[in-house]
Amino acid sequence: MSTAESPVPTDIETFAFWERSRDERLAAFKWLRENDPVSWHPPAESLLLPPEANLAGFWAITRHADVVEASRSKNFQSGKGVFMEDMPVEVIKGALSFLVEDPPRHTELRGIVQSAFSPARIKKIEGWIRQHAHDVVAGIKPDGKADMVPQLAKVLPGLIFAHYVGVTDDAMRDKTVHAADMLGSWNDPEYTETMAPIEVFGFAAQTLGAVAMELAALRRTEPGDDVVTWLTQTEFEGEKMTDADIASFFVMLSGASNDTTGHAIAHSLLELQRHPEQKAWLLEDFEGRIDNAVEELLRWRPPIIHFRRTALEDYTLGGADIKAGDKVVLWYESANYDDGVFEDPFTLDLSRKPNKHLAFGGGGLHFCLGNALGRQLLKCALREVYTQLPDFELQEPMEGFSNLFNNMRHLPATWTV
Ligand code: HEM
Repeated sequence: MSTAESPVPTDIETFAFWERSRDERLAAFKWLRENDPVSWHPPAESLLLPPEANLAGFWAITRHADVVEASRSKNFQSGKGVFMEDMPVEVIKGALSFLVEDPPRHTELRGIVQSAFSPARIKKIEGWIRQHAHDVVAGIKPDGKADMVPQLAKVLPGLIFAHYVGVTDDAMRDKTVHAADMLGSWNDPEYTETMAPIEVFGFAAQTLGAVAMELAALRRTEPGDDVVTWLTQTEFEGEKMTDADIASFFVMLSGASNDTTGHAIAHSLLELQRHPEQKAWLLEDFEGRIDNAVEELLRWRPPIIHFRRTALEDYTLGGADIKAGDKVVLWYESANYDDGVFEDPFTLDLSRKPNKHLAFGGGGLHFCLGNALGRQLLKCALREVYTQLPDFELQEPMEGFSNLFNNMRHLPATWTV
């Protein structure tokens, strides 16, 4: 550990840190990468657990190479939780399925849905995703204005998710999308004004679990070609999956797919407006450049800022002696600005290649299952906005408070009709 004093506060365990500007936060992570890359922190401030139950400090892993090493090592496990803030284990097990499992259970559960999200399958349904993106943007076009978060960034991933899991009813889909948003926003004042954070998470998980049960009952009698149908038919260790397993699976998938992609769409629109020369470069040859651009937009504003692991055995990482049982937090966003890997990381360069960003994780067992779908959705959303609304302009955005997501609550826009 360095004895140098940071000129910017590096108290990432506090809520105050996450209230500061993004520039201040990025400066703090830069300092940590350069001076104390695997740093020890007191217990993360928590709205979920009483102080007497919130006693575990954590290691912050901030350099690219160390995040990759920890992600790929069997020594760092997910079974005790994947967020910096601890949550009661029964809550996470009921809501986060294989995201909070380790092998062999992780391997088996992930295997059930793996093929549904393969790049080949996504390629096959590209036209269909494109059509949905077209229709959503065409639907708002005549109004000349919209809030791009609820009207695009939530609707589009919600539609695609609903298709995957077999939700066909509009009301059920809206309920699912709203509850998925709550699930990842348990510490956001928009929800905590009226409910305690653990209640926000619990309510969201319960709502999604109830939708899953309704769907599972339907798909047992009317099977379709969707994830919920497969879950009802699959045998796991010689037995059918229980309702609780199916509900947990559904809750996790709705959180993993809706929020992430929605925030990526909203932030990409904003960053392209903030960097007009980069946007102009992209629009000169959208089809030829969008694949590259999407990678840089995800590096710049990764929807997920951190995930956490717990050490199985003692392990030395980045010069720090991590003990068995210690919490280890992987800061994907920090890794994406590591100048040991990215030249001039504080410049948005849509032509950057190669681009080894960690927006989808560090490449271990939990590497994002939906990465091909997330990329495709982002691409389709940007294509439709810039082709159908050519003079599209954003007003003041409203970001949400979170140490987990680079999220966005409102993004008003106008264009001429
Ligand atoms: C731009 C959009 C997305 C981003 C940035 C993103 C990011 C991530 C990250 C960082 C992880 C954890 C990786 C790790 O711990 O190593 C993850 C896991 C996961 N993501 Fe995504 N995700 C996105 C979209 C999606 C979509 C559309 C789906 C829908 C299927 C999805 C499903 C999952 C699942 C199921 C996991 C857990 C994998 C496991 O534990 O084995 N994601 N995602």
